[in-house]
Amino acid sequence: MKPLTHILSTEQFTRTTLEQLFTDVAAIEKLVNEKGGDDRLKHKVVATLFYEPSTRTSSSFIAATQRLGGTVIAINDTKTTSHAKGESLQDTIRTLEQYVDCIVLRHPEIGAVRQASEVANIPVISAGDGGGEHPTQALLDLYTTKREVGRLDNLTVAFGTDLLHSRTVRSFAYMLSKFKNNHLIFVSPKELQIGEDVKTYLKKQNTTFEETDDMESALKKADVIYWNRIQKERFTGNVPAQKFVIKTTHLDLLKPDAVILNPLPRIDEIETGVDRDLRAAYFRQMRYGLYVRMALLDNVINRRTK
Ligand code: NCD
Repeated sequence: MKPLTHILSTEQFTRTTLEQLFTDVAAIEKLVNEKGGDDRLKHKVVATLFYEPSTRTSSSFIAATQRLGGTVIAINDTKTTSHAKGESLQDTIRTLEQYVDCIVLRHPEIGAVRQASEVANIPVISAGDGGGEHPTQALLDLYTTKREVGRLDNLTVAFGTDLLHSRTVRSFAYMLSKFKNNHLIFVSPKELQIGEDVKTYLKKQNTTFEETDDMESALKKADVIYWNRIQKERFTGNVPAQKFVIKTTHLDLLKPDAVILNPLPRIDEIETGVDRDLRAAYFRQMRYGLYVRMALLDNVINRRTK
């Protein structure tokens, strides 16, 4: 596998590079569980620069760096940086790259992370660009699926609920289309249906999909249920979505070996009572995210080749 430079899009990955990456992730999973980590990022510094709120993505990148012996400059509140004085994103990147070995960047504008990477002389990892993509989340969603379901081909995956604005839905759908015979079911209110860009992409990849507002029939068929909240910050108005809440009363409909994923935060799209069901894998999913981000940081900072 060629060393990864910037991580900006799911487009950068092929089935083969994903399989290679997941071999590294599995080794890291073992390492963390046996020893907590190692020193392969000793004397390396990572900046986490978040222009949008984050709990999991920022904390897991920080923990990932520290578990590999590196240190972090964590900027979670850009109101306290020169951004508040009017400094451009590009100049902030040019500044941080003087001090660190890699920048993890989240920004509310689609394309902003790519633009930042164009002025950077060090690797930039996208932690999400607005309603665009969230490639590292998709990598951890895929790794979770592999670990929990045991395969990445021949899957029926049901997606809900705000398919129009969710960057994690887009990125995970793109990743699934790199594997064989996956069928995607998009479950949403009419106003929040999956975008034409995603449908065009899936058709090009020969990945089959259907759109429905019948959540119960989708839940019955799915091997993976991928539920994400309504992205209220990305549009004005209110779309009633009560009909798309997964409740404990739905659990009997699910296949016995199905898994429920959610990139989180969970607002009200999954009842908290569902958490007790072993098929609810969203808390385990976060842990897999730590391993995936450790493997990615090792790869981009140490320029690993195979
Ligand atoms: C997601 C995101 O930021 O897009 N969260 C995350 O990174 N785990 C999902 C969301 O905010 O709904």
